[in-house]
Amino acid sequence: MVMKAKAAVDAVSSCKNKVSCADILTMAARDVVQMPENANCYKNPVDPTLIPSYAAELQQQCPKNFDPNTVIALGPSTTGIFDNMYYKNLQNGQGLLTSDQGCDASIMIQSSGSNTAEKDHQDNLSLAGDGFDMVNKAKAAADAVPSCRNKVSCADILTMATRDVIKMAGGPSYPVELGRLDGLSSTAASVNGKLPIPNWNLDQLNDMFAFNGLTQIDMIALSGAHTLGFSHCDQFANRIYNFSKQNPLDPTLNPSYATQLQQLCPKDITPLVAIHMDPNTPTTFDMYFKNLQQGQGLFTSDQVLYTDTRSKQTMISWANDPKAFNDAFIEAMT
Ligand code: HEM
Repeated sequence: MVMKAKAAVDAVSSCKNKVSCADILTMAARDVVQMPENANCYKNPVDPTLIPSYAAELQQQCPKNFDPNTVIALGPSTTGIFDNMYYKNLQNGQGLLTSDQGCDASIMIQSSGSNTAEKDHQDNLSLAGDGFDMVNKAKAAADAVPSCRNKVSCADILTMATRDVIKMAGGPSYPVELGRLDGLSSTAASVNGKLPIPNWNLDQLNDMFAFNGLTQIDMIALSGAHTLGFSHCDQFANRIYNFSKQNPLDPTLNPSYATQLQQLCPKDITPLVAIHMDPNTPTTFDMYFKNLQQGQGLFTSDQVLYTDTRSKQTMISWANDPKAFNDAFIEAMT
């Protein structure tokens, strides 16, 4: 556990070699003393997503003091047959591993009781309510057809909607895997540290994408999605008002674009105002890399792809070859 915690901290470049094993041991000792009152594992000894009868069966097969050599079937039924029972078992709360429970579309789950869901994490509050409504409407429409009821997940709908909006905006089309299962749990705490930040540099971006199994090439290609959509003014206000003591304006911003941003987002603007991320062709899936060449990347995390020599060549090649960009985008998305 200590080694894993150390490796996780060291994987973040800005934290590398800053947290010692001695610190980790001290914090772990402090936390474990507090845990019995607060930790979920003590409040819910049994994972609530398991149906009680299957949980009881597992407790019998694997009593607390189980022999570590004991093995049990991954599924509770038809263990020797290659059939679709795996999915039926999941529907019945009989997925053996947490990873079997599915983890997609958990953003759709509402907060309830004492649980604050992902949706209500500070970083997700800006997500458009219309988007949630649209997915819920599509799900209701699919479920209204008796033969489709409970067959199309919100995760499938989100995946198809993403694919379709890119195509509709003039971008590439790509095949998507369907039959995704919707996640059953959603906690705001699980969002912490999982989203990239708009003022990050290339190392920080690469670290986060690598943590998710994605390369620098994937990261550059996926950033191209900022050719569509909106950003709230507070996400880049530092670049146009208080970048540094010497330069209130980020010098990598094109000056006329900076003026335009200052007009759209005056200093005292309400945090609700959002502007297009692509100032030139905001509803077309194109041009993002050309914008960066003009100093029109809205976030530091966009513009750095041009200013950092390690990503510049890839970025320029895609600015000159939309087909190569589309191929890289599809590769990263699928
Ligand atoms: C590279 C690291 C990234 C950073 C730092 C970043 C940051 C941001 C920020 C700050 C916003 C504005 C949020 C708001 O104010 O509401 C935004 C919007 C958006 N991002 Fe990213 N993002 C990144 C990568 C991606 C990727 C990989 C995709 C998809 C493949 C993506 C797609 C979008 C879209 C579509 C929007 C617009 C949302 C809307 O219109 O409501 N971003 N991003």
